[in-house]
Amino acid sequence: MNEPEPFKIKMVEPLKKLDKEERRKKIIDAGFNVFKLRSSDVYIDLLTDSGTSSMSDEQWSEMFKTEQAYAGSDSYYLLEETVKEIFGFDKFVPVHQGRAAENILFSVLVNDGDFVPNNMHFDTTKANVKHKGGTPVNLVRDEAYDIDKKVDFKGNLDTIKLREFIEEKGADKIPVIMLTVTNNTGGGQPVSMDNIRDVSEIAHEYDLPLFLDACRFAENAYFIKEREKGYSDKSIREIVKELFSYADGFTFSAKKEGLVNIGGLIGVRDEDLQERCENLGIIIEGFPTYGGMACRELSAMAKGIEEATTYEYQRYRHQQVQFLADRLIEADVPIIKPAGGHAVFIDAKSFLPNVPQEQFPAQALTVQLYIESGIRGVELGTSAFGELDKEGNIIPAEMETMRLAIPRRVYTLNQLNYVAESVIRLYENRETIKGLKRTYAPKLLGHFKAEFAPL
Ligand code: F0G
Repeated sequence: MNEPEPFKIKMVEPLKKLDKEERRKKIIDAGFNVFKLRSSDVYIDLLTDSGTSSMSDEQWSEMFKTEQAYAGSDSYYLLEETVKEIFGFDKFVPVHQGRAAENILFSVLVNDGDFVPNNMHFDTTKANVKHKGGTPVNLVRDEAYDIDKKVDFKGNLDTIKLREFIEEKGADKIPVIMLTVTNNTGGGQPVSMDNIRDVSEIAHEYDLPLFLDACRFAENAYFIKEREKGYSDKSIREIVKELFSYADGFTFSAKKEGLVNIGGLIGVRDEDLQERCENLGIIIEGFPTYGGMACRELSAMAKGIEEATTYEYQRYRHQQVQFLADRLIEADVPIIKPAGGHAVFIDAKSFLPNVPQEQFPAQALTVQLYIESGIRGVELGTSAFGELDKEGNIIPAEMETMRLAIPRRVYTLNQLNYVAESVIRLYENRETIKGLKRTYAPKLLGHFKAEFAPL
């Protein structure tokens, strides 16, 4: 039997549900892009698990207690203690969100013509590497692309590919190796401790730094506890500490497992690197003791990191995702298996086999789910990750998914049941869903502002 939620609800926000015709009008006005909807026109919002968590009463109280100061606020020192205790890092730079951490780190490390390997880059790391003239490279194990293959650690980086890649390009062209835990783009899939250790060893053999993209580090730690030999008796915090011990640094969006609505970190071991990141941070984010946030955000982040690394919280979190995944699997809806840590990913290639990737099947699915049920998922397919060739033709993304990300401590199982039933109904009527034509998209991270039209 599943344990019930390890909290009770103290404050609620009423939901409004538009009728289907109203939703149809809204999505037409939004250029068939759910990023352009008002959130008040969405019934259940599974666009992202980022910045959408409910905070605890303890996080709110920390925020009230914090001093607001340009320099030296107590919240910085509270965060410093947490970062040291939980991540085992005593050097860090607070930033307002994950992509600010990426921007600063890559500005300092990446030069024109460099390569940055990762198991799989998320959209913002990919864009930030490119923005500095580098090439982002995905070296995840091949099984990651096989949606039905149940592999415990589908997010692992292929170490044979990594070694070959370093030999081929030369270590001097690789300023940093990244490892994304969990692998968001590939279905929220975890990376094993073994793999993290191996990647770290290879990186250090070539004198290269290993950085974690640590957005969902504690969900990853829970998977290690559940699945990896030798870890079942270890606490989430012990696993987290070991996981970070193999890294030379990390970028972190606290909007995920900091359980806050804004915030992020860069963690480093090297003093000179900290100095360079802090100095650039001062120009683009703010003085290091507030890092582009109100000081109270740092306190909430410190408390949130503590809460996210408890077993009770992680068990609840994983049970929610598993609940939605199980309901969809029972109805044969094609999803990435096993379920990820923060979301269920529906495979649009199998859901809509007659819609070619050039017609954005995952986008079409996302739009139709909103029209039919008021649920907002997100496209992680050719709109988010596709490329254009020299003639402007679309090069489809390797994976074509609609992600239903579950905000933390926000929705009840009853609401997730509504989501499951809505997706199942959509699957039963899938023949009616047609592809889309893209009419506009900026060059980098174009999916946020893209526009589409029905074919
Ligand atoms: N890295 C990963 C793996 C992410 O999932 C994200 C954000 C970032 C970096 C950037 O962090 O948003 O704070 O700037 N992912 C969100 C998502 C937006 O919906 O998956 P950010």
